[in-house]
Amino acid sequence: MKLVYLKSSFFLLLMIVACGPKKRPVYNEGINITPVPSQVINGQGTFELKSSTKLFASSQELSGVINGLKSQLRASTGYDLPISAQFEKSNSINISINPSISDNYEAYELTVNNNHIAIVGASKEGAFYGVQSLLQLFPAEIASKEVINNIDWLVPSVEIKDEPRFKWRGMHLDVCRHYVPVENIKKHLDVMAMYKMNKFHWHLTEDQGWRIEIKKYPLLTEVGSKRIEADGTEYGGIYTQEQIKEIVAYASERMIDVVPEIELPGHGLGALTAYPYLSCTRGPFKVRNYWGVEPDVFCAGKESAFIFLEDVIDEVVELFPSPYFHIGGDECPKIRWEKCPHCQKRIKDEGLKDEHELQSYFIKRIEKILLAHGKKMIGWDEILEGGLAESAVVMSWRGEEGGIEAATHGHDVVMTPGDWCYLDHYQGDSNVEPVAIGGYTTLEDTYGYEPVPEELDHKMVHHILGTQGNVWTEYMYTPEIVEYRVYPRIIALAEVNWSTKENRDFESFVKRMDNQFVRLDMNAINYHIPLPEGPCNHVVFTDSVKLEFTSTRPIKIVYTTDNSEPTLASEEYTEPLSFKENTTLKITSVLVSGKMGTVRTINIEKQALKPALDVKTTTNNALKQQRVDGTFVRVAQLENVTNWEEGVSDLSSKPAYEDESVKTTEAKILTGYIEIPEDGVYEFNTNLDQFYIDGELLINNDGLVKRFSRNNSTIALAKGKHAVKLIYMENNLGGWPQAWNGLEVNYRLYGTENFEKIAKEMYSF
Ligand code: ACM
Ligand code: ZN
Repeated sequence: MKLVYLKSSFFLLLMIVACGPKKRPVYNEGINITPVPSQVINGQGTFELKSSTKLFASSQELSGVINGLKSQLRASTGYDLPISAQFEKSNSINISINPSISDNYEAYELTVNNNHIAIVGASKEGAFYGVQSLLQLFPAEIASKEVINNIDWLVPSVEIKDEPRFKWRGMHLDVCRHYVPVENIKKHLDVMAMYKMNKFHWHLTEDQGWRIEIKKYPLLTEVGSKRIEADGTEYGGIYTQEQIKEIVAYASERMIDVVPEIELPGHGLGALTAYPYLSCTRGPFKVRNYWGVEPDVFCAGKESAFIFLEDVIDEVVELFPSPYFHIGGDECPKIRWEKCPHCQKRIKDEGLKDEHELQSYFIKRIEKILLAHGKKMIGWDEILEGGLAESAVVMSWRGEEGGIEAATHGHDVVMTPGDWCYLDHYQGDSNVEPVAIGGYTTLEDTYGYEPVPEELDHKMVHHILGTQGNVWTEYMYTPEIVEYRVYPRIIALAEVNWSTKENRDFESFVKRMDNQFVRLDMNAINYHIPLPEGPCNHVVFTDSVKLEFTSTRPIKIVYTTDNSEPTLASEEYTEPLSFKENTTLKITSVLVSGKMGTVRTINIEKQALKPALDVKTTTNNALKQQRVDGTFVRVAQLENVTNWEEGVSDLSSKPAYEDESVKTTEAKILTGYIEIPEDGVYEFNTNLDQFYIDGELLINNDGLVKRFSRNNSTIALAKGKHAVKLIYMENNLGGWPQAWNGLEVNYRLYGTENFEKIAKEMYSF
């Protein structure tokens, strides 16, 4: 799917700003501070920033804060504002610290009147957040990285008192499934700071790759960080210790604490491939090139595994000043431990009941190491199983139960339940969005998350530290797709974390986001814009068809029917569209800033019913099968195959998830007939490589990730038999093995609610 490219829309925006009289764009109207502050009192008049405006910071501690403000103002306004040595009464921005303004060290007060701006933070952090709010009172173009000349840099008079509701305002990022370059991580940190987020949870080790340089164990870089993809290409990436220090320092300037995650005892195949002695079986292993959970884990019986982890921790704690250290702890299969003599001996020697208690033993040993370094251990909610380590902080991801249980027993908790906080989920219809892991969590769903569960005893509520968005990157193949999934949902969570419950209002948030999107444009962030949803991209009709579009939140939609690209002047979609002729419909969404989303192209085609074939078939509930051994990635490779084995397929698929090593070693072509139950237009859906009907290539997933096919298509068919051809290649593209899909094809009468699987009884040859 083509993603929106930001450069062109950025220039469009500059043109809107640069041409014509100085009219305030709609997105700059009102106060758009996000997350919404605790208290805002509007005043009279405005402050105007001039090239002569002076900046003053009351203490050396604020030098980073004032310099950050100065450099942002210089970038967009071109003013090189003087920094004054003393408090200035007029034409000035003064920043100071006064711990007595609040018990909450992150609080600030911001006062703007006609000739003076004052920011008072309860601490350096508070002052920094005051600066972020001040920047958000300026026109959105203040966030520009380039000078914009003809804007009045006005700030409305206002008195703000503000502080965060929660301490932990986080974003997690998995850089193992897909590597995120340092520059892209810095972009996230920039945006996190704009929205007053303060925890970057960096998921650094996985089955699919180890990503942090450990000097004592060089094979982690040389071997553990690299995987061979199913198409034979090498994928890898590592952060050197110098790069890590650079990121930690960059985050610290933005008041963001970087929390490292080193996964144990599971999700460790990167390390096990480099050093197989760490496992129960001694391998050999390969860094995993498909998603899911690896059964090989760190051995809980061998001392050498603990020595390795202690050495790793010794190096990692030196790099991260954070008081927290995340040890993973999730999804650790026990099947190796059950058979391992070392692990079984450990269970016996330590008087443990089972492998769950062995996991708990493992985590408690790691806790001791971390405590000796003065670190607080944090882990996913599985660390509750078999007995929770005394000092552990729990990150609740499999719902809220783990978090409730931990908080009830006096443990601190970060709430990240999947239904609201997993930003790898779809945020719109899977038929039109780029392939994702699954789930469905719209911006409104995320915004609606309440981190304090009703069931929790009010005396334990202080143990809820806050929430964070989790960004697992299996289906985020590029840094741009990471941004697409993260924004704007993470900003919804920023507001959940910062703002009072009473002040939260989705309609107000969405309106403020019109302004924030312009700021994201200035940061070249590839954020999600809701797409027009509903019809698939090839709509067939016999007489006429009416197409209705929806979107995940109210947004302007425009379209053309003359094959031209939609523009801001195109017809606005206000009601379902009717078609009687062949048409190419191009349709897209438009933000208040004028930025457009991805354009969908929908081919609308009039067809007569394809007549049924007058054929006699002799084999029922099956298709004719040609099968060949070999690894095939693209359908064209099948053209050279001469050694097909002929046979019969009953369409049954192997149970694939049981397979520990997914095979990618065969291809099949199935041919025969399908019995269509009644005349009509049918919509088909499949993750097969290709699906043909009556000789027409109806669905083509060649070269794509074979998951949640985006290529549904329709065809008009008369009741009776129609020829079909199914092409299945047992490949693994983008980490999803075709073997996990099997031979399934689904269909429905066009316009009806649910798809049904084509039953084998409908096939014959
Ligand atoms: C997780 O999503 N496995 C923590
Ligand atoms: Zn073992």
